[in-house]
Amino acid sequence: MKKRVEDFAFFGGEKTFQTPLHIAQVNLPPWESVTSAFRGIFERRYFANHGPIVRELDARFAEFVGSRHAVCVTNGTIALMILAKALASSGEVIVPSYTFPATVQALSWAGLTPVLCDVDPETQMVTPETIAPHITPHTSGILAVHLWGQPCAPESLESLAADRGISLMFDACHSIGCAYNNRKVGNFGNGEAFSFHATKILSGGEGGCITTNDDHLAEKLRTIRSFHPGETFVPAALRINGKMSEAQAALALLSLEQYPQNKAANLRRYEAYRLGLAGIPGVSLLSFDPDTDNNYQYIVLDIDESIAGIHRDIFFKLLTAENIICRRHFYPGVHNMPPYSKMEATVKSRFPVTDRLCQRALQLPTSQVMTEADVQMICELIRDIQAKADPIKARVSDAP
Ligand SMILES: Cc1ncc(COP(=O)(O)O)c(C=O)c1O
Repeated sequence: MKKRVEDFAFFGGEKTFQTPLHIAQVNLPPWESVTSAFRGIFERRYFANHGPIVRELDARFAEFVGSRHAVCVTNGTIALMILAKALASSGEVIVPSYTFPATVQALSWAGLTPVLCDVDPETQMVTPETIAPHITPHTSGILAVHLWGQPCAPESLESLAADRGISLMFDACHSIGCAYNNRKVGNFGNGEAFSFHATKILSGGEGGCITTNDDHLAEKLRTIRSFHPGETFVPAALRINGKMSEAQAALALLSLEQYPQNKAANLRRYEAYRLGLAGIPGVSLLSFDPDTDNNYQYIVLDIDESIAGIHRDIFFKLLTAENIICRRHFYPGVHNMPPYSKMEATVKSRFPVTDRLCQRALQLPTSQVMTEADVQMICELIRDIQAKADPIKARVSDAP
């Protein structure tokens, strides 16, 4: 416990953690399983171009999700670009501003025009109500985001897209293994894009995948993903090198095998955070709908300064100084970032919910390297910071 304000590392005290606790550190598979998988790659001397391990991962991930097709690619951003290009070759695509910038920039890279919209204050995600006002004759699709492992209104968005005759895709980068009404994420809309980045519950270091139940779309996705003549299934004007390597696929396959234990460990840490943070005024941990299946990969706080007596940014500064690497997601909101901040449509629109969330959200670390005692220590620090709000604010000269 930090007895005095001077005890916090930000003010010169000793750091609580000697080495940084990153927001998420890759859940490593056992070393022996890695050497055995890589021995096979070395023996075959086959590293790229739709090798046997990539093909196995395509099949195994489709089986895991329960979709007809899975098309593995280099990363989640490329997955979004290829999916968007395959579904909507031109026009406007409606997308939330409260998301990781890659969601929106993938549309720009695919030659589409992103139209940013606000999100619902309860779910922090888009709903038919936040999307509908932006639909015009130029709209070709919707790109919704399943945030923090929660499914994003999939059935009502499917009805909206069908009624308006536009395509529906999901950024499912956060939502590997999640489900809605027993329907797994990966089966909604026309197609869904996943990330296998090192911060994700299933990781190939880098990596990504697109799932779909549409056979024709799958052929288009496979064609766009590479320039390989043997991988040309339908005509496609523009293609890209979005191929996953054998090394990435080998790590991702091992990670897929470990999914159940990694999810269970995430849940234990989530519960430890929930108990540890209980009763801190103005600090609430994002709760998940018990009817949906979550992967618990994201520990996200909402900090209400009017109750906590201290702004989220001061928690951020003090925790970072203790070597607790947290994130102010998704500050300052895509509508406030280049190249979108000056676009006419963005300037004219209003994003009150996104603006509020960007001032209040704080993501905390969770990973295989952390113990439940680490979690308790982080919770105690947060309790201490809130309890000493006034003297801390008095000493943080650049407090907002
Ligand atoms: C919501 C969201 N979309 C897209 C991406 C991009 O994925 P990648 O880093 O694999 O390109 C991320 C990555 O963190 C993400 O969190």
